[in-house]
Amino acid sequence: MVKITDNEFQDFVKYMNKNYGIDLSKKRILIEGRLSNLIEKKGMNSFSEYLKSVKNNNDEQTMLVNKLTTNYTYFYREEKHFQYLVDTILPFEEKTNKAKLLNIWSAGCSSGEEPYTIAMILDDYFKYKINQWKIRINATDISENVLSKAREGIYSEDSISKLPESYIKRYFIKLCDNKYQVIPEIKKHIKFKVFNLMTPVQEKNRYHVIFLRNVMIYFDPGTKNNIVNKLYSATRPGGCLMIGHAEIIQRAQSKYHYIKPAIYKKE
Ligand SMILES: C[S@@+](CC[C@H](N)C(=O)[O-])C[C@H]1O[C@@H](n2cnc3c(N)ncnc32)[C@H](O)[C@@H]1O
Repeated sequence: MVKITDNEFQDFVKYMNKNYGIDLSKKRILIEGRLSNLIEKKGMNSFSEYLKSVKNNNDEQTMLVNKLTTNYTYFYREEKHFQYLVDTILPFEEKTNKAKLLNIWSAGCSSGEEPYTIAMILDDYFKYKINQWKIRINATDISENVLSKAREGIYSEDSISKLPESYIKRYFIKLCDNKYQVIPEIKKHIKFKVFNLMTPVQEKNRYHVIFLRNVMIYFDPGTKNNIVNKLYSATRPGGCLMIGHAEIIQRAQSKYHYIKPAIYKKE
């Protein structure tokens, strides 16, 4: 097994933090565990040799990010957000949104369970009237690996087990081996794209709701504030930001207003 030296570890931490905002300063074992085999397979002898090769090669960079990020997710995760969507946000939009256009961003969407859940909730809420609405769910992640899984939309029984039974019946096609595929009527609302949250966000006042759930765990406080402020500009006045229930936004450092745990609003 190739071991990582103290200097190499510091170099990795700096590289990941500078380029991806990911804080791995307490993840020495994770870095060593996830990369050691790969380095050996490439016939390299050290982490520094590997890092050098990564810096000059886009494909290697993608592979490194895929290896070091945690993509754990499932359908209907943290359902209080979806309840708030159904009880508060959607009734409000139904009354006030004359253009019948809903822009939603699932930022750090991993393999798609979150944006698909959102699309299912919307379909269930609007029922036959869904066709009168333009629903645009922008689903982004830094990792192309997870996005290709998301586009395919095939999931295990485990991953969908929190969904109401009626959703499983309505929104999936059952394949063999206990796999389930999301139906095209749900897929059509979502565009999956690679996007690194460390890069500038071009959209201004666009999104009715942004989901940034269980993504900030990677970021140091400065990076976190930066990203939250970028998302604030991209949120429409009156729109909301949902973060993971284990995450916090420092009230003094963001213009969002606190609504309830893990839900913030742009006034
Ligand atoms: C734990 S998953 C969360 C998935 C989903 N939001 C949820 O709550 O279940 C975190 C995702 O954030 C993505 N991520 C990490 N750093 C990122 C960055 N700088 N830009 C975009 N996505 C990032 C990871 O690739 C991973 O898929």
